[in-house]
Amino acid sequence: MKKVVLAYSGGLDTSCIVRWLREQDYEVVCFVADLGQGLGGEDLGAIEKRALAAGASKVYIKDLQDEFVEDFVLPALKAGAVYEGKYFLATALGRPLIAKYLVDIAHREKAGAIAHGCTGKGNDQVRFEVTAGILDPKLEIIAPVRTWEFKSREEEIEYCLMYNIPIDVTKRKPYSIDRNIWGISIEAGVLENLEQEPPEDAYLITKNPTHQASYPKYIEVSFEKGVPKKIEGRAYKLKSLINHLNEVGGHHGVGRADMVENRLVGIKSREIYEAPAATILHAAHRELECLVLDRELAHFKEGVALKYSELVYYGLWYTPLKSALDAFVESTQKRVTGSVKLKLFKGNCVPVARKSVHSLYKKELSTYGREDKFDQKLAEGFIRIWGLPYKR
Ligand code: ARG
Repeated sequence: MKKVVLAYSGGLDTSCIVRWLREQDYEVVCFVADLGQGLGGEDLGAIEKRALAAGASKVYIKDLQDEFVEDFVLPALKAGAVYEGKYFLATALGRPLIAKYLVDIAHREKAGAIAHGCTGKGNDQVRFEVTAGILDPKLEIIAPVRTWEFKSREEEIEYCLMYNIPIDVTKRKPYSIDRNIWGISIEAGVLENLEQEPPEDAYLITKNPTHQASYPKYIEVSFEKGVPKKIEGRAYKLKSLINHLNEVGGHHGVGRADMVENRLVGIKSREIYEAPAATILHAAHRELECLVLDRELAHFKEGVALKYSELVYYGLWYTPLKSALDAFVESTQKRVTGSVKLKLFKGNCVPVARKSVHSLYKKELSTYGREDKFDQKLAEGFIRIWGLPYKR
C-alpha cells in the first residue's frame, strides 16, 4: 500500500480526508502540529482517537510552539514584516514549519506522499506545496479538497456518520478560523459582506475595545538585540512573553484588524485578524529601531520589511532571497537593545516612552532650550548645496 502523511487538524475536512485517502488505497499517517491553536483546550486524546477512527494507522502530535516562535515569528518580528500594513502573518508563518515536519515524517515513515486539507482558492495550499517542493521535490502532494466530490459541509458530515467518525456536528462554526500563538485569522460567513462591520462574536481573544477600561494600561517591553526579553522588567521565554501579551493586549481590545487583502491566487478577500502580542511587539520593536538605527538604515529596512512580508505571505520562506534578507536584518539588530513603554487603551497601542544604551538621540542637538550645541550658522551653507541641483 502507498503511504501518505496528512496535516491533520482534527476538524471535519481533514477527518473526511483520512477516510477518503483510505478509499484511494493509501495508508494514512496523521500529523497534528501544535502551534498554540488552543489544542490544550480540546483533548489531544480525542483528536488522536478521531484520526484513528477515521482510519489513520498512526498519529503524530507535536508541540512546535517554541520552534515556531523562535525560528519563524522572531525573524519576522525583527524584519518588521506586516502584510499590506495590517496582517502580522500568523497563519502564513506557520505553514512552512508544518510543511517541514510533514516532509520529515514522510521520510521517517518512508511515505511517498503528503496531503493537506487546503482549498484550491487560498494561500495555504501554495505555502505547503512550495515548501514541500523545496525540501523534497520527489514527494507526491495530495490536496483532496481541490478535487473530491463533496460539495457541502452537510455531505461531509453524512460521510463521517456513515463511517462512524466521531465528529461534533453541533459545533456549527459560522466562520473559517485559523489560529496559533501569533494570531487568529477569521474569514467567511457574514464577513464576506464588506459593507458590514464584523459582529462581536467573530472575535475570540480580544475584548470589545469600546467596552474596555476607561483608564489606560502601561506596559514596558525590553529588547536585547531585537529579541523581546522582558515585560515590566521581568524576564520571560519568548513563548510565555507572547502568551502574556496576548492576554494583556486582548483584555484592552488591542490587536484587531479588519482588511480586504490581496491573496496570492489573485482573489481579494475580507479577513479579520486578532493579534494582540504581535501588535504590541511590532509597535515596540519599531519604536526602538527609530531610536537606534540611523536614518538611511531605517529607511532602507522599511523596504526590506515590505519585501519580507511578501515572501512570507507568498510561501517563499525557504528561498535564497529570504535567507539573504535574514542576514541583512540580523546585522541591523545589534543595536536594538532597550525598552519601550506602551499605552494600551480601548483597542489602541501607542508607544509613549523609549530608552536605549545605543540611542542616537542627542538632546544637545535637538533641544530648543539654552543648552543647544547645534551650530545653526552651518545650516545656511548646507541648504544652499542641498538645493543646488534644482536651482534655475
Ligand atoms: N488570509 C490569511 C493568510 O493567507 C489567513 C488564511 C487562513 N485563514 C482562515 N481563516 N482559514 O495567511
